[in-house]
Amino acid sequence: MVYVTRRETFSASHRLYNPKLTEEQNVELFDKCANPNGHGHNYVLEVTVVGNPEQDTGYVIDLKDLKQLVRSEIIQKVDHKHLNHDVDFLKGTIPTSENIARAFWEILQSKIRGARLFSIRLRETENNSVEYRGETS
Ligand code: NI
Repeated sequence: MVYVTRRETFSASHRLYNPKLTEEQNVELFDKCANPNGHGHNYVLEVTVVGNPEQDTGYVIDLKDLKQLVRSEIIQKVDHKHLNHDVDFLKGTIPTSENIARAFWEILQSKIRGARLFSIRLRETENNSVEYRGETS
């Protein structure tokens, strides 16, 4: 099996805040990330698919197709947006990297043709990233 990765970047703002908790509890839990007006990140997204190279093309997936899919289904919907307010598929979730990565997975999983989605890696800062590989793997 061969693993193939497409990298994309986007900039977005968010606020980590749980409406079920009090203001004080939110500040204690999320610290500066709970600031009322949010803050921004330059996110790096890596989408990895896995499969066997096709006989005729030598490709697991045509990276042009993967690029287009990731841009149209994800990047266009989150780039320069406020993740708490502007993104339908994140409504009602706390937009941590964990939850964002899982939401991206749910969107891309059924739309990738030929290969199988293996992982979503989302880097929020130079030092912090998460990786989601679906429920079972
Ligand atoms: Ni943040």
